[in-house]
Amino acid sequence: MKSDQIRETFLSFFEERGHRRAPSASLIPPPDDTSTLLTVAGMQPFKAYFLGRETPPADRLTSSQTCFRTPDIEEVGKTLRHLTFFEMLGNFSFGGYFKDEAIRFGWELSVDGLGLNPEEIWVTVFGGDEQLGLGPDEEAIAIWKEIGVPDERIVRLPRSENFWQAGPTDPCGPCSEMYLDRGLEFGGVDDRPGDDTDRFLEYWNHVFMTYDLGEDGSLTPLPSKNIDTGMGLERMAAILQGVPSVYQTDLFSPLIDLAEQMSGLKYDSTPEATRAMRIIADHSRGMSFLIAAGVVPSNEDRGYILRRVMRRAIQPVSYTHLRAHE
Ligand code: SER
Repeated sequence: MKSDQIRETFLSFFEERGHRRAPSASLIPPPDDTSTLLTVAGMQPFKAYFLGRETPPADRLTSSQTCFRTPDIEEVGKTLRHLTFFEMLGNFSFGGYFKDEAIRFGWELSVDGLGLNPEEIWVTVFGGDEQLGLGPDEEAIAIWKEIGVPDERIVRLPRSENFWQAGPTDPCGPCSEMYLDRGLEFGGVDDRPGDDTDRFLEYWNHVFMTYDLGEDGSLTPLPSKNIDTGMGLERMAAILQGVPSVYQTDLFSPLIDLAEQMSGLKYDSTPEATRAMRIIADHSRGMSFLIAAGVVPSNEDRGYILRRVMRRAIQPVSYTHLRAHE
């Protein structure tokens, strides 16, 4: 399935279930949102709706949001899945449906809409956190079991993995992720979702947006219970196109082909060439979207991020070093 079809399948699945399609917002968050320098998630343009400060145009929305994340920038190029710039497909409910419907939608689209093998789907749930004063998410566990996911494929994870917050403050909540087991050729027998290997690929996060996180770390219940989900388009494309890495999908292969043509090197000729071409492909896409959003290279804030990705793409490893391995 081509990426365009995956995007359309997702958005129309939710449209058919009463969601209004919302356009992708800018990569630059609005001036009143200083929590992050760039848009990091599909929920970010909808924060005011979650907080009850503004009325959403509909109580169910769906979108494909361009996102940019820097915490893993050093990983880009080294792994099959890390990116800075990506598209996040999401469905959102503002005070309407909650865990039960969201989880069922997630399962139905994964299995019936996208054709994933239900036996290969694993899920994670919030396992509780003493500091937050919250126990394990028994409600989510019960819903997954009701759908038919066996207990051994429901993994309880700590706050660091399964409690979602966009920044240090603002709307947040426990979450539940869906993973695809890609088999032993991608990792070991004892690997589990949440491990840092490629065997279990996280493809969809469901956030049960319930609290407002204060600067002092306290949780205040939001005016209503909400749903925020995020599916990585690039990762789903790798799964459905049967390729090991996001870089071999239709979203990246034209860029990799161009890098091969211009350098005269093959993508898989050496580990250095692979890493360099992945960095070139990810960062050139990212920098184009940053520039289109109005960011200019500089020494600070967003401008510094752009300058950093440009620098990394221009000189990922020295050309002489690449040729030495040919
Ligand atoms: N906000 C959540 C995430 O980014 C789900 O969309 O993972």
